[in-house]
Amino acid sequence: MSGCAGRAPVQNKVTEYRNGMVVSASPFASKVGLDILKKGGNAVDAAVAIQFALAVVYPNAGNIGGGGFMVYRSASGETNTLDFREKAGAAASRDMYLDQSGVPIVDKSLYGQLAAGVPGSVAGMVAAHQKYGNLPWATLLEPAILLARKGFPLSTQQADELNGLSEKLMQLNPDGTALLKTGKWAANELLKQEELAATLEQIRDHGKAGFYEGKVADQIIAEMKRGGGILTKSDLQQYEAIWRKAITGAYKQYQIITMPPPSSGGIALIQLLKSVEPYPLKRWGFQQDSTIQLMAEAERRVYADRATHLGDPDFYDVPTNALMEAQYVKDRMKTFDWSKATPSSSVKAGEVKGKEHEETTHFSIVDKAGNAVSVTTTLNGSYGAVVLVKGAGFLLNNEMDDFSVKPGAPNMYGLIGGEANAIAPGKRMLSSMTPCILEKDGKLFMVVGTPGGSTIITSVFQTILNVVEFDQNMQQAVSAKRFHHQWLPDLIYAEKGAIDSLTRVKLESKGYIIQPRGPMGRVDAILKTRQGNYQGGADPRGDDQWLGW
Ligand code: GLY
Repeated sequence: MSGCAGRAPVQNKVTEYRNGMVVSASPFASKVGLDILKKGGNAVDAAVAIQFALAVVYPNAGNIGGGGFMVYRSASGETNTLDFREKAGAAASRDMYLDQSGVPIVDKSLYGQLAAGVPGSVAGMVAAHQKYGNLPWATLLEPAILLARKGFPLSTQQADELNGLSEKLMQLNPDGTALLKTGKWAANELLKQEELAATLEQIRDHGKAGFYEGKVADQIIAEMKRGGGILTKSDLQQYEAIWRKAITGAYKQYQIITMPPPSSGGIALIQLLKSVEPYPLKRWGFQQDSTIQLMAEAERRVYADRATHLGDPDFYDVPTNALMEAQYVKDRMKTFDWSKATPSSSVKAGEVKGKEHEETTHFSIVDKAGNAVSVTTTLNGSYGAVVLVKGAGFLLNNEMDDFSVKPGAPNMYGLIGGEANAIAPGKRMLSSMTPCILEKDGKLFMVVGTPGGSTIITSVFQTILNVVEFDQNMQQAVSAKRFHHQWLPDLIYAEKGAIDSLTRVKLESKGYIIQPRGPMGRVDAILKTRQGNYQGGADPRGDDQWLGW
């Protein structure tokens, strides 16, 4: 694939395609997905091939050592979701990251073998392929194996990231890894990952057992022993991806199909849309003061709920329906006062996690028949736990940090929370990932999602509103500058250019604090037009690319 190295051109022109589309964080992974569609693969086949390709060409978030969520809608309207989220090992315990006086130990849940949950991605891909796949399993692994063995040219962003990480990589992988080199990585330099190619061959030849049993499982367990990790062979053998009924909710004539817990994203997204539905956003206009005020106030309330009520539904009774009930959402908005910002201290809820990691990745696919797949997948932090399994060449996740590391402790408002997301053996940690598919009048309309930690939910929310209220095309909606409120801290974060100076003055006069920050999210989305064509939106904040045919 020549011409794809370096920063992908910003895809601002509107080109429409009839037969299908793929959008991902890497031009190489998008090409893999499109090739699979052209070979007669369906959207799930393309998703499996992209997931494995991203593990090679986008190692900071693409993965086989992490987990994720898939939302599926068949051409005939059947919906399903797949939870391949990581889970805590059987030896995990509620206080495992605290010192003797109960204080979280810096970095213990972030770096190294102990930060890893049981990986879910390989089991997820096997389950997705078994249920919906069309092409042979091996065909879906081949492109990733080739990319790993022959190498691919690093983009400027990737070379810079690897150079920035080299000290940590060296510290945590003293025997070296393919991601480390003497001297600095340069843009366009080939990254070859022979050990990863061999691991992918095990998965190609043995499916789930090629990862959770045999040679690769032995390598994972040896890695755990090397660095004080707790995952065992039985943790690996027992891991199962879970099909879960999609969360659905209506916004005007649109139906939102998204991920249930252990994602917090689906419930929160539907709460947000329902919170703003009664108001004339279209009349107020894109990024106007009333629009931003209303959206920020909705976000404040929804994020407060999220901190209290959401966790793994197999361990905690999540009040899913109650939270999405129209009357509940309406009551939550009753305290909203146009004349001034609602202080977050007066919005009751529980513990809020510190900084959430933002380096997940998302891809969206529609195939020729009209089947749609929306996948968000993650190692949590950039390059996860920064540990590669020795001899196997893949990164371990640091997803344990997505649990409440210290639940039950009063937060700065004296409120107790985080129990829903406390660590327990075998439990899945709460996620913000919000892969989503929209229908309009019963037909496929949009496939959307993004990385971005706690900003995932608001980035998806804004992208949807940009299209359905502000008449933007898919690329405009994705490129548009973003803002974000998450209850605590009590701030509106804004990308440069998201809020103009006049609007800022109006909002500040009501007590809003606007905090500039860097890029939020990398939304990759597909829109189906009234004429039945597909428009892509690839986020210019990264190397993302749509490809259609
Ligand atoms: N680790 C990011 C998320 O699951 O939301």
